[in-house]
Amino acid sequence: MAQLDKIAPSVLAADFNRMGEEIRAVERAGADLIHFDVMDGHFVPNVSIGPPVVKSLRPYSSRFFDCHLMMSEPGRYLEAFKDAGADGCTVHVEVGGTATLIDEARSLGLRVGLAANPDTPFAAVAPFLGDIDLLLLMTVFPGFGGQSFIGDVMGKVNEARREVDSNELALDIEVDGGIDVATVPIVVEAGANVLVAGSAVFSRPDPLEAAHALRVAARSARA
Ligand code: DX5
Ligand code: ZN
Repeated sequence: MAQLDKIAPSVLAADFNRMGEEIRAVERAGADLIHFDVMDGHFVPNVSIGPPVVKSLRPYSSRFFDCHLMMSEPGRYLEAFKDAGADGCTVHVEVGGTATLIDEARSLGLRVGLAANPDTPFAAVAPFLGDIDLLLLMTVFPGFGGQSFIGDVMGKVNEARREVDSNELALDIEVDGGIDVATVPIVVEAGANVLVAGSAVFSRPDPLEAAHALRVAARSARA
């Protein structure tokens, strides 16, 4: 089934001093989701932002706030993210307790995502596909923006797309890490339809134009 691609700029690469303005700019460029990379210094060797930042940015955008929880204990924070204005939270399958986390997020009224690191096999997420709204297949090892795209993950994206389509699941397949105008055609071809991009949007002189360029690249990849 033909999918409509969604562009999800990651504010991790934004200028933290003017995040509100930056979000407004990418919203004008037609960003569909705003991606928040939440790092706990434990699941990944870095710390970033948490619920207070999400809350302070909520008035700046009506777009879907897509919170990617790179945390060892995401269950402790789901409610705080919901209260801060998150629309969806994505937890990593590697932390375990997945079925419970999905239930908890769902009962809070969040859209539910499940993420897998580049070296986590498709079999680890396959049992949950019917219970989630979004599958995030990392195309870098999480923890830092600006890393190089890992093309080997495309086999898994392909596998996920086949499974989703053959079972007619209403599930987005998101990729995250090293996404730019050069890699967009590769991920779209493999079957992803939600494209997270940090550096390729916010490290460019004009984030609005950069977000638009990703949209154009996705469109031409489908043409
Ligand atoms: C990696 C994060 C990504 C990252 C993407 O830990 O999950 O969302 O910010 O950044 P770029 O697009 O710069 O690779
Ligand atoms: Zn992310």
